Amino acid sequence: MPELKQLHADHAPAVLAFELANRGYFARSVPDRGDDFFERFADRYGALLAEQEAGICAFHILVAEDGSVLGRFNLVDIEDGTAEVGYRVAQDVSGRGVATAGVRELCRLAVSRHGLRTLRAAASYANAASQRVLLKTGFVPTGPADPAHLSGEPGTWYQRDLTLEP
Ligand SMILES: CC(C)(COP(=O)(O)OP(=O)(O)OC[C@H]1O[C@@H](n2cnc3c(N)ncnc32)[C@H](O)[C@@H]1OP(=O)(O)O)[C@@H](O)C(=O)NCCC(=O)NCCS
Repeated sequence: MPELKQLHADHAPAVLAFELANRGYFARSVPDRGDDFFERFADRYGALLAEQEAGICAFHILVAEDGSVLGRFNLVDIEDGTAEVGYRVAQDVSGRGVATAGVRELCRLAVSRHGLRTLRAAASYANAASQRVLLKTGFVPTGPADPAHLSGEPGTWYQRDLTLEP
């Protein structure tokens, strides 16, 4: 699998192309980002880079040989040795283990670059593919997630102890 790259200002056009090309696909499982996200993309992207600079978040992309983005793998709300994981993978390469490999790599980076001890992720009951990715990468269900955290969808929190082998 290609290496995850930390998000950089130069990646903005490829990230926008990825979000536009997969907008309908993503909206089938997670809330659409909304027109405002695309209309004010440069502002939103700048805000992400500022959050990353502040150490609150760490954003990563998986880039194909032609420079296109295949997936995004993020650590958000980094605090006290833990963070929340988020990810999305292009429809073109879905079902080939890209998310699973990306989350595994993200877990390694969470330890080696950020010194984290645990990670958490919330997935809706309806998002079977995401739940499968979490189980395959060593996350265990820990209890119901507040639907407010999943844009009104019921779901489950998962946790991964990074000090244990998956
Ligand atoms: C969820 C997502 C990241 C999965 O990416 P991917 O690269 O296709 O995932 P992988 O190929 O690594 O693994 C998918 C697993 O889910 C399984 N799966 C896919 N659709 C499924 C379904 N409807 N029901 C049950 N299992 C399903 C696959 O069979 C595979 O498991 P397996 O390896 O045991 O066969 C991708 O669909 C996506 O970006 N969705 C939109 C954004 C999103 O939901 N993000 C997660 C938010 S919590």
